[in-house]
Amino acid sequence: MESLAAIHDETRQGEAFLHPFPQRSAQKQVYLESYGCAMNFADSEVVASILANKGFGTCGTPELADLILVNTCSIREKAELTIRKRLTEFRKLKRAKPGLLIGILGCMAERLKAQLLTEEKLVDLVVGPDAYRSLPDLIEEAEGGQKGVNVLLSREETYGDVSPIRLNSNGIMAFVSITRGCNNMCSFCVVPFTRGRERSRDMPSILQEVRVLLDAGYKEVTLLGQNVDSYYWNDPETNQTVTFAQLLAATASTSPQLRVRFSTSHPKDITDEVLHTMARFPNICKCIHLPVQSGSSRILQLMNRTYTREWYLSKIDRIREILPDCSITTDLIAGFCTETDADHAESLSLMDYSGYDMSYMYFYSERPGTLAARRYTDDIPLETKKKRLQEIVDMQGVLSTRSNEKDMGKIFEVLIEGNSKKNDQEWTGRSSQNKSMVFPKTNRGEKPGDYVQVLAEDYTRATLLGKIVYPA
Ligand code: SAM
Ligand code: SF4
Ligand code: F3S
Repeated sequence: MESLAAIHDETRQGEAFLHPFPQRSAQKQVYLESYGCAMNFADSEVVASILANKGFGTCGTPELADLILVNTCSIREKAELTIRKRLTEFRKLKRAKPGLLIGILGCMAERLKAQLLTEEKLVDLVVGPDAYRSLPDLIEEAEGGQKGVNVLLSREETYGDVSPIRLNSNGIMAFVSITRGCNNMCSFCVVPFTRGRERSRDMPSILQEVRVLLDAGYKEVTLLGQNVDSYYWNDPETNQTVTFAQLLAATASTSPQLRVRFSTSHPKDITDEVLHTMARFPNICKCIHLPVQSGSSRILQLMNRTYTREWYLSKIDRIREILPDCSITTDLIAGFCTETDADHAESLSLMDYSGYDMSYMYFYSERPGTLAARRYTDDIPLETKKKRLQEIVDMQGVLSTRSNEKDMGKIFEVLIEGNSKKNDQEWTGRSSQNKSMVFPKTNRGEKPGDYVQVLAEDYTRATLLGKIVYPA
């Protein structure tokens, strides 16, 4: 049911992704599989780098591996169930290949440590998101027959000095982590428990990573954090504080040819300074992911989101005022504790007002240990949750069509990402507003990584269809 909900799953939340990444001459092979949000995918690239420095090569299938690492997600129960099933499959491989080591990384490691290791004996290694530097030592311990465990959370670790190995990259777009952890305590959310306190990576290492990407021919970076707007770094040399808006401007200034995106913005923290910075730089993409979660102020209060419906809507107005061509996307949860039909109707009407171009939509999944699990009863029947979710999905369908209709006849600058999935005579790429666009190749020699101007002429549910009108 849940997969029904995601109309356009850009961050691939809760979805498995295999990383066939380049072979190196190495004695041991690692197979890495990632689940969850973009931050987990970015972390897997850090892990690949840490292991490569210790001589580990990488392979594209678990059968070839000496070590299988699963980077896990705990955000909803379904994500955890999927991963458990996968771990059981890997156990079967281990029976046939006794020396094979299996490890879990990421948010489930943090949440379920002892259980997975001792009670269920599913894995040999359990390594939390802040302990990846200890992986080589833990692997050695596990090779020696002990269990390798480190789930200590840190207040400082940002992996700022680790140069990620890009996994499954098209050589055009890359994630760059700018913060880790989260200090918000949204009552439904497990992230503050699995990822720990928020910390910001130093600006020089972020800009250095961006420059390395530029030199390698990359054209788009997405600055990542659970709450990017709370980025806050104090430069020890000047004793000046760097805000997210300043970091954004510095990143965009590295090259006008580099597109800059960011995710995720918390509505309480996104500032006018950020909006004006977006307006000032044409290469900062005009797309804001602004998760609302619910349209009812009463539910928002129970969720501990720290804003009301009205406050959120005034933020939407502000974005429209400063950035008239900006797309706005969101996350919504149906069926949170005590949600009434009237609360649900408020979510639908808020969606309508906000005119979201795309949404990630879920039904509430109680997570052990969260504030909501401790304080409230998960009292909305599953059938009701699913029905409300479907209504939200249907509403997004209407809004997406409305948004696509508005785009007809407009010309968008598109960064070509590669062949379209369905037809190798067509390109796929995205507009600044993060809409996927598909259009026929021409004989003018355009290629992936080029910017072209595309006229939108038609659309499917999640894609604009058009034609190149001229190179940028
Ligand atoms: N930090 C981001 C924010 O505050 O908007 C999002 C973080 S979370 C990884 C992504 C989305 O998962 C959330 O925005 C929320 O909609 C959804 N989510 C989190 N916990 C959930 C739960 N217990 N049940 C259902 N959906 C949940
Ligand atoms: Fe979770 Fe809220 Fe933090 Fe987002 S801001 S990661 S929803 S606690
Ligand atoms: Fe999942 Fe952890 Fe991300 S719970 S959504 S992988 S921060």
